[in-house]
Amino acid sequence: MSIHKSSDLKRVTTHQLQELKNRGEKISMLTAYDFSMAGIIDAAGVDIILVGDSASNVMAGHETTLPITLDQMIYHASSVVRAVNRALVVVDIPFGSYQGNSSEALRSAIRIMKESGAHAVKVEGGAEIKESVLRILSAGVPVMGHLGLTPQSIYKFGTYTVRAKEDAEAEKLIEDAILLESCGCFAIVLEKIPAKLAKKVAETVNIPVIGIGAGQDVDGQVLVMHDMLGITHEFKPRFLRQYADLRTTILDAVGRYVHDVKAKDFPNSKESY
Ligand code: KIV
Repeated sequence: MSIHKSSDLKRVTTHQLQELKNRGEKISMLTAYDFSMAGIIDAAGVDIILVGDSASNVMAGHETTLPITLDQMIYHASSVVRAVNRALVVVDIPFGSYQGNSSEALRSAIRIMKESGAHAVKVEGGAEIKESVLRILSAGVPVMGHLGLTPQSIYKFGTYTVRAKEDAEAEKLIEDAILLESCGCFAIVLEKIPAKLAKKVAETVNIPVIGIGAGQDVDGQVLVMHDMLGITHEFKPRFLRQYADLRTTILDAVGRYVHDVKAKDFPNSKESY
């Protein structure tokens, strides 16, 4: 007798993502950080919801992803998990919670999985974090890698420009992708690298490769929800396609509300008890 709820049976799994790649079907992934938006994004049919540490930027207003804490990521992740019925929920392990100490990496991953109910974690980097990746995987926690522009290393790069344009960095990136696959990662995000290199990585490794600013020839795409919905308005990189202009919609709605309150038009008698 099955103890699964019917909604559990329909959830996207890491195995299904692999099947999508094998069949040549693209994978859709978006970020979410709260219950209300995660519910809408899940209902729209996205395959993977990433509780990204971009929450540090779009939710908290920090300049970089570095300040967000493990506790804050768990708060965002548990809000998202409560809303999601279908998508696979992946959570970024934040800066300082896994690099250079595999025991701490395991502790962080286990806290995320236990306290939020998420289904997988994501980490940035290749060979430098191999021990952490292996340790997390040894506990049965699925791991997604992240190579190319890795925002947790922004002070090493000094700029958010395209990565791996030079041969040496491109070769290391390919080696890192092969390493992450051999460790057992179920997918890799490639951020802001030449499309040609991303294509080569997606052809070299068997696991799904999800791009952001990495061109069309990868196995799926990810965007930050606030950017693609037009909530953020000063961030317009070339790779971003804006699917809505929610900032204008919200400005207009709130402006009309303020007007109606000042004009003593809201609430009217039908809106009162
Ligand atoms: O934190 C995030 O939103 C991310 C995506 C840009 C892939 O890592």
